[in-house]
Amino acid sequence: MLVILRRDDEEIGRQAAQLIASAVRKKPALALGLATGGTMVGVYKHLVGLHKQGSLDFSRVTTFNLDEYLGLPAAHPRSFHHFMRENFFAHVNVDSRNIHIPDGTIHGNYDQYCTSYEAAIRKAGGIDLQLLGIGRNGHIGFNEPTSSIGSRTRLKVLSRETMDDNSKFFAPGEESPRCAITMGIGTILEARKILLLATGEAKSAAVAKSIEGPITSAVSASALQLHADVTFIIDDAAASQLSQRDYYHRVLEMTALLTPDRLS
Ligand code: PGA
Repeated sequence: MLVILRRDDEEIGRQAAQLIASAVRKKPALALGLATGGTMVGVYKHLVGLHKQGSLDFSRVTTFNLDEYLGLPAAHPRSFHHFMRENFFAHVNVDSRNIHIPDGTIHGNYDQYCTSYEAAIRKAGGIDLQLLGIGRNGHIGFNEPTSSIGSRTRLKVLSRETMDDNSKFFAPGEESPRCAITMGIGTILEARKILLLATGEAKSAAVAKSIEGPITSAVSASALQLHADVTFIIDDAAASQLSQRDYYHRVLEMTALLTPDRLS
């Protein structure tokens, strides 16, 4: 596990975009796992910037988003389809046939749909690089606390905390979704490389538990300790409850010196 500490969300966005860009340049047909949420806005802004400068080509990239709210059509302004279009896909050259986002409008036979989403990931050769945010309750994707560490893509009921966090994005009186389709923790752990981003004080407890706490289904992101190639990129506020910050800084210095590839 590599922990990269940065000052603020601007630096987080730039650093994450740099790592993603370098993965795409190394493997132009990259299978890229994508995430939504406020933390990701800066990452997509920087990726779009690199594309517009002509230095980043997504034409052969395949994408798989982590999750989507159940009941929201793609055109709904709060859907993750909409978020991805506005922040990323409308501005870059990912082939629309290569974009995969769970369908929030399916009714019934959820298992069959989720199995087909997993099959599409396998058909693409598995996810090379998965981008993740983290919830205040430690969720990754919509894997709420007590999600099985081996879980696969499925229908998931959202926790009260997540619904409260999301309600601010919905109009007053508009009910925020109670369920989502999400990749499972087991699905996420199969990605070859994982990049988790966190900013802000509200995430600091979840970040500390994920990196330094025991592996537990009570904190879904703690399952990432089982993965061989995870990089956390976190800002000062989100890192404030980590007890080993000094060690992470030293590891980063040595990584830059000995294996700079991991940081470019
Ligand atoms: P946020 O969401 O980036 O909007 O904080 C992260 C998450 O809940 O996964």
